[in-house]
Amino acid sequence: MKVLKVELDRNRSYPIYIGSGLLADTALLAQHISSQQVMIVTSDAIPDQYPAALSAALSSHRTEIVKLRDGEQHKTLHELEKIFDRLLEKKFSRNATLIALGGGVIGDMGGFAAACYQRGIGFVQIPTTLLAQVDSSVGGKTGVNHPLGKNMIGAFYQPKCVIIDTDVLNTLADRQLSAGLAEVIKYGLIRDAAFLNWLEANMPLLLARDKQALAYAIERSCLNKAEVVGEDEFESGVRATLNLGHTFGHAIETGCGYGHYLHGEAVAIGACFAADLSRRLGWLDDQDVARIIEVFKAAGLPVLPPPEMTADQYIELMGVDKKNVDGKIRVILLEAIGKALLPMSVEPAQLQQTLKNYADR
Ligand code: GLY
Repeated sequence: MKVLKVELDRNRSYPIYIGSGLLADTALLAQHISSQQVMIVTSDAIPDQYPAALSAALSSHRTEIVKLRDGEQHKTLHELEKIFDRLLEKKFSRNATLIALGGGVIGDMGGFAAACYQRGIGFVQIPTTLLAQVDSSVGGKTGVNHPLGKNMIGAFYQPKCVIIDTDVLNTLADRQLSAGLAEVIKYGLIRDAAFLNWLEANMPLLLARDKQALAYAIERSCLNKAEVVGEDEFESGVRATLNLGHTFGHAIETGCGYGHYLHGEAVAIGACFAADLSRRLGWLDDQDVARIIEVFKAAGLPVLPPPEMTADQYIELMGVDKKNVDGKIRVILLEAIGKALLPMSVEPAQLQQTLKNYADR
């Protein structure tokens, strides 16, 4: 087992455990769960064996399982009420623990429920998709979508620990594996050029689910994420660079209807768009952009925007983003491969030109 740490102030630092079989490790769970009452929030898309194994490992606790509908289209305030209903029906107290067992949608909703219920209860993340393991389970971003904007309602709420059981990737669909690789590639692009080299060389092994290669990619991604979150927990600076490709990606997810594109797929397209814009503004060259597009393609990800969306639609949707300031659209661009720039305002005319040319390439 590997242990990394997210370093935070006010005694809120927490470990990230990465290893095989951790989901059912009673001793490990006991280190972070002192309450009798434990609510396991999971989804209808998670194989039953996982909540069953977790409940069995927590047999000395009083566990409840609440299953939500999975997918970004169900990451809503309405679906969230199912968690509150159950917590209240079962008279869960303020010292209770909520475990989010699932992908990014479940982690975000479980974390938001934990942040709100009685103004905050214990929270543990057990991510079951690659995307959640390498990104969304670490760093305390929680929340739900609104029809007008993705993740626009939420809170920063850190877990007590993140338990990454690499065995759960055995049952992950290929499409979900690729979607997770989008966020893995992102770390290489924004701050870890050596990791990008490694990813390019090892993509076939990752897609073949080689255990060692996947464990290494998860560890290195989490290390990058933990460093960034430790430096800028509330995203007043460098944390925004983790959103490479996200402004455009969120517009695609919202514009095409939540759930049509997986988050990682939309991020891959968005990162290619950001690379193209970075080239137009003089930072990257043609070869850099070609290399970026190639690595996403090699991971089995889409790289072109959906043809049905217009430039005006993107601009309208990109106007609803947490990075924007005073209503101005701000995006993350690359100064070089392995070096992201802080969020920067881009004029709608400049964006429109890039959108049009990029979609036509
Ligand atoms: N997923 C980006 C962040 O956690 O900041």
